[in-house]
Amino acid sequence: MAKILIIDDNRSVCQAVEAYFTERGYEVHTAASGTDGLNRFVETSPDVIILDIRPPDIDGFTVLEDLREDEENVKVIMISADHDMDTTINAMKAGAFDYIRKPIHMDELHTVVRKALQAGEMEKKVNDLLTKPPFRFKAGDIIGRSREMTEIFKIIGVVSQSKTTVLIQGESGTGKELIAKVIHRNTSPNEPYVAVNCSAIVETLLESELFGHEKGSFTGAFSRKLGKFELARHGTVFLDEISEMSLNLQAKLLRILQEMEFERVGGKDRVKVNARIVTATNKDLENLVEEGKFRDDLFYRLNVVSINIPPLRERREDIPPLVDYITAKINRDLNKQILRISDDVMEMFLNYSWPGNVRELENLLVSAIVTTKGQILVREDFSEFFEGLQKKTHLVRDAAAEGGRLLKLDEVEERYIRKVIKASSNKTKGEICEILGISRPTFERKLEKYGITFERE
Ligand SMILES: Nc1ncnc2c1ncn2[C@@H]1O[C@H](COP(=O)(O)OP(=O)(O)OP(=O)(O)O)[C@@H](O)[C@H]1O
Ligand SMILES: [Mg+2]
Repeated sequence: MAKILIIDDNRSVCQAVEAYFTERGYEVHTAASGTDGLNRFVETSPDVIILDIRPPDIDGFTVLEDLREDEENVKVIMISADHDMDTTINAMKAGAFDYIRKPIHMDELHTVVRKALQAGEMEKKVNDLLTKPPFRFKAGDIIGRSREMTEIFKIIGVVSQSKTTVLIQGESGTGKELIAKVIHRNTSPNEPYVAVNCSAIVETLLESELFGHEKGSFTGAFSRKLGKFELARHGTVFLDEISEMSLNLQAKLLRILQEMEFERVGGKDRVKVNARIVTATNKDLENLVEEGKFRDDLFYRLNVVSINIPPLRERREDIPPLVDYITAKINRDLNKQILRISDDVMEMFLNYSWPGNVRELENLLVSAIVTTKGQILVREDFSEFFEGLQKKTHLVRDAAAEGGRLLKLDEVEERYIRKVIKASSNKTKGEICEILGISRPTFERKLEKYGITFERE
């Protein structure tokens, strides 16, 4: 039974929460002040805490801090009558799981409580994996303790309760396929998971690959063949590198998504689609839509739920647990007993930009583990990597580089835009557009693309 602790000096709020959640099978504890709340927390070790931002004795943020000091991953939902953005942002920054405004709508609170519980379970799984010595390895786990990955865990939890279409976007090697598999396992583990790489098959074959064909429908079609949509039954069809699909096939896919039915190539029977469709791409699909290379109507159909996996360099706190996890995986596969990497190697890892993301990290560790003689991987085990790094840094010292890596064109663009905005704090939007030599709509699109806030007109 999940345990909830509510800390609020308003008795009627406590009572309402207690009644509502007890009725739904939760164990509920209440506290009327911050101190009382902290004590109750220790006594009852609740799974979720609902905390008023202004208890009578201690400030809510201090309570939150104390709670998190005790247990870093505790799930705290802050509630408050304040309606300003800053309080919300501060609460989230201070590590609250979510923030809800008074008056409380019980159903809304319940949804958030459920989400918090789910996230807690996911984290616990990952933590178990990380802290239990000797390190256990379970295939298919997604590792990540960053806020970004936790958010993704939350989305996976939510989409696993339905069969909505999911679009996964992220640079190469960020774990798109892994996430697709985990979604499948959490939704319909006993049904087939069928993956198709849209860039690996020529267009004519792709169509019959996806939808199947009837005997004699084209030269070489000697017998009836079932397509992936049929083979997946009630499971998952994973369409990888969806950006590479031709416009012609995109139109066909769109029709299927609209009707949830299709015909085999050369056939007349209507076949129902029961599988969930997950697609992935490392391209910016929205850009391709703008360029007319990807159908916008299909994009919206695919993008019902989107998961954007940030590159590894934007969630560096995931690097240490990934190193542990991958090392354990390689130990198992290659029958090795490597314990860890040395601290200076870890430091280099933390500062490196990982253009190939988790896959690059994996490859690097494999080659080091294959050749090392010791049980701890030291700098010498990665000598080629470090030498390469130094060479690159030397070559491009004055150019646009970071962590020994040449910047991508749009990274340079982003930096330049930020620089210009910063350097022209007294200039209007129009003037800045002029400096950059672009129109307002283009400027606004770029701001959105890079997540830059610009308030001036
Ligand atoms: N968060 C993670 N936890 C554990 N392993 C991960 C994680 N992310 C990626 N990996 C591992 O990194 C490798 C690359 O992941 P995956 O193939 O899913 O990437 P991808 O995004 O599909 O890449 P590409 O765009 O190149 O196809 C896999 O071996 C995967 O298991
Ligand atoms: Mg992939």
